[in-house]
Amino acid sequence: MQYRVALHDRVRERLDLKEATQKKVQKRWKTAGSSVIELLRSTRNDPLNYSRAESISSEISHASLYNSPKRGFEHIVNTLVEQEDMVGNGLVKGIELEFTNLSLTLKSSGKRILDNVTGKLSPGRVTAVMGPSGAGKTTFLTALAGKKSNQTSLSGKVLVNGKEDNIRAYKRIIGFVPQDDIVHGNLTVEENLWFSARYRLPSKMTEKQKASIVERTLRSLGLSAIRHAEVGSVERRGISGGQRKRVNVGVEMVMEPSLLILDEPTSGLDSTSSRLVIQALRREAKRNVNVGVVLHQPSYTIFRMFHDVMFLAKGGRVVYHGPVEAVEEYFANLGFSIPERINPPDHIM
Ligand SMILES: Nc1ncnc2c1ncn2[C@@H]1O[C@H](COP(=O)(O)OP(=O)(O)O)[C@@H](O)[C@H]1O
Ligand SMILES: [Mg+2]
Repeated sequence: MQYRVALHDRVRERLDLKEATQKKVQKRWKTAGSSVIELLRSTRNDPLNYSRAESISSEISHASLYNSPKRGFEHIVNTLVEQEDMVGNGLVKGIELEFTNLSLTLKSSGKRILDNVTGKLSPGRVTAVMGPSGAGKTTFLTALAGKKSNQTSLSGKVLVNGKEDNIRAYKRIIGFVPQDDIVHGNLTVEENLWFSARYRLPSKMTEKQKASIVERTLRSLGLSAIRHAEVGSVERRGISGGQRKRVNVGVEMVMEPSLLILDEPTSGLDSTSSRLVIQALRREAKRNVNVGVVLHQPSYTIFRMFHDVMFLAKGGRVVYHGPVEAVEEYFANLGFSIPERINPPDHIM
């Protein structure tokens, strides 16, 4: 008797669970359905994306008819989300930074930290600024981001989209990820991003638009699975160091910057984590963001993921500035060929 009661309970439990799962699945279909309707609406005047939205819509209604989450629910939602990325979070306003003869000296000692740095950072490209410790990499990107210091004096010209303009006027569209943490340890990963989105995105933007930016950022940085985890601090351990660094990047990514500058976002990270970060930055560049990254010693694989590179030597002089593909040939032509099995960035430095 005892046994049968137990069995009965278990059957009951199973049925309840089945019902709950079914409800959940239905809810997901409903969400997918309303997103696709939204997508159809927003692409009405855009024939190409509208026809894509239509095909997703028919796929969804077909799949939901047979209620087969296995038949690619993930796939459909992913496609949907990708489409939304394209439509809802389109290109940012591109800004190109061109700098000529940037020099920076310390007022106290007259010591020169940047020496006639000339070049440009382009929208849609990820530029790595590399060089030995103390070469002036941080100083250079900090100056470009328009952060003033009264201990130094800066000379030279910075053109924004070809115009001589004060870069500080662009503050709202410049994201800066310093080497040190800017995250709140007692908030979760998602809360950190929301905090930044609320505080820094235009207030006329709808909650839904903000949510879609936060979602895209979480996904792009591989943080979705730990979105509800508390970030923690040195004293109170939360997420891992690599994840924490990615949250720091995310905090600046959600403000939808046109220029995104990062100081050593991969230092101390293992290669998988580093790759995740740079991949996310490349995705940003696809949206026309201009990305500048200070790096200390990237592996060859990571190095090849950049579009442009700028090598700074000690004393803040530019040794090379141009596309990554042309680096090896450039140095070979100068008579410095890179031995096999040696990491070119290591060798050049
Ligand atoms: N405000 C400052 N006061 C004194 N020295 C500075 C200041 N800013 C930079 N420096 C010096 O300039 C050099 C370059 O610094 P930095 O840009 O941080 O190099 P990197 O980021 O390439 O390691 C270092 O020797 C540093 O000590
Ligand atoms: Mg530095």
